[in-house]
Amino acid sequence: MTVSSRDDELIDAVLIRKWLACGLGWLLLFPTVGTFISTKLSYPTFLGDVAWLTYGRLRPIHVNGAIWGAFSTLFIGLCYYIVPRLTGVRVWGERWGIALLWVWNLNLAAAVVLLALGWNRGWETGEFPLINVVVTLVALLFLTLQLLMTIARRREKPLYVSLWYLLGAFVWTDMSLVLLLVGPHRLAGLDNAAWHGLFVQNLIGLWITPAGYALLYYFLPVSVKGPLYSHRLALLGFWSLALFYPFAGIDRHLYSPIEWTGATAIVSSILLIVPVWTVLQNFFGTMVGRWREASRCLPAKFLIAGSLMYLVGCVQGSLEALRWLQQPTHFTDFVISHAHLTVLGTFVTWAIAGTLHVWPRLANDAPLWSVRVGSWGFWLVTLGIAVMALVLAAQGLQQGFLLTAGAEWMHTVRAIRPYWWVRTLTGFTIDAGIGLLVYTLMKTSLARPT
Ligand code: HEM
Ligand code: HEM
Repeated sequence: MTVSSRDDELIDAVLIRKWLACGLGWLLLFPTVGTFISTKLSYPTFLGDVAWLTYGRLRPIHVNGAIWGAFSTLFIGLCYYIVPRLTGVRVWGERWGIALLWVWNLNLAAAVVLLALGWNRGWETGEFPLINVVVTLVALLFLTLQLLMTIARRREKPLYVSLWYLLGAFVWTDMSLVLLLVGPHRLAGLDNAAWHGLFVQNLIGLWITPAGYALLYYFLPVSVKGPLYSHRLALLGFWSLALFYPFAGIDRHLYSPIEWTGATAIVSSILLIVPVWTVLQNFFGTMVGRWREASRCLPAKFLIAGSLMYLVGCVQGSLEALRWLQQPTHFTDFVISHAHLTVLGTFVTWAIAGTLHVWPRLANDAPLWSVRVGSWGFWLVTLGIAVMALVLAAQGLQQGFLLTAGAEWMHTVRAIRPYWWVRTLTGFTIDAGIGLLVYTLMKTSLARPT
């Protein structure tokens, strides 16, 4: 089945553009916060010791902001585009879209302020204050309802695989947020650590991952103008994702007192190769004979770059789950390399691809203001991420092996300082690339109204 390219009567272009514009705003802000905290690692007195500008306050703003602000806001905006096109009907309860947009974005802004004031629930990537978790959950529940109702009224009977993944992402994440709602303060000791592992893993594997797959499976065929290689393979990926991902969370606690669960986590982490393989085989299969076409299409270039980084990031992930590599790298930047290669290099990159595809279409199919500037943005972002991942992996290995050889901690920090400078430079490169892309999109829509 090919993705349908129905007319645009079914979509609310103004609503989608507003969601995407907010997502782009967050995409400018939160990676820049990352560059700030990176500068602090290289140059600790940067920004002084004002409480809300300290590393401990800014780091959760960066991480939660990148996930809930940049990635998720773009993703939700793109859902409002994809779902009507795949179901053949307008989104159910569309008039609530603008109210939801306000709730979502004000909630994010409030979370940033509260995190800056030091409110923090203590679970890494789950630091949002309780009130913000509640509002995020309510908003996601409403979005889930919209999605379910729209799909229930669909005119196109078969469910294209993007809809499977969208449904999975929303329903699973509603459940994960209940865990975040009750987890941090109610569970004690090791239970708390174990449930935290499950939550982080669910956020990565059952929100970001299926959301990103939904985008890839929609935007790859439409960008390269050809059918998806295998729908059945994509569905195998769906069920294996659901089965293997949750168990892998404990791999954050290898070499800790809940080590006994480690074997399950390691096996699950290796089995994650199954969903990863389904996506990559579908990617390469769909691309056969279409590379030339793709090289002229900016969204396709982002999809390709993201898929290649997915390949590298997941090989890295499976290897670091094994004890021989886990031991030296666990407390090092090797993990941060993996986190950026996947969350930023793959999923944010795919979301940028979708936005680049959709945005000009919302402006009456306006041509991109400047393909040249857009391409500069592409190269700055992708090379920035690739170099960042490389230096972080290298410094992680160096520090890890120094530590296991018995080196003193400060000695290892001095050894990796040059790498930190390079990472900070790559941060500026990525920020500049994102800036160029956003500028290109703004110029595109200013040239022609919605
Ligand atoms: C949308 C883009 C980005 C996303 C999605 C993203 C995602 C993340 C994630 C998930 C983490 C947590 C990693 C972990 O705990 O294992 C993180 C931490 C971090 N990120 Fe980013 N990031 C982005 C852009 C950037 C940029 C441009 C920089 C600039 C150099 C940067 C620098 C950092 C730093 C310094 C940390 C903390 C590392 C530590 O505490 O050791 N990030 N980011
Ligand atoms: C086969 C695929 C993958 C495997 C086997 C895998 C494995 C792992 C392992 C073992 C860790 C823990 C490293 C440590 O703490 O020492 C980890 C951390 C992480 N992974 Fe993956 N990963 C995979 C794919 C992904 C994907 C697709 C994403 C993004 C959507 C991702 C995002 C992250 C993040 C953000 C962390 C850091 C979490 C934290 O600091 O608690 N991984 N991964």
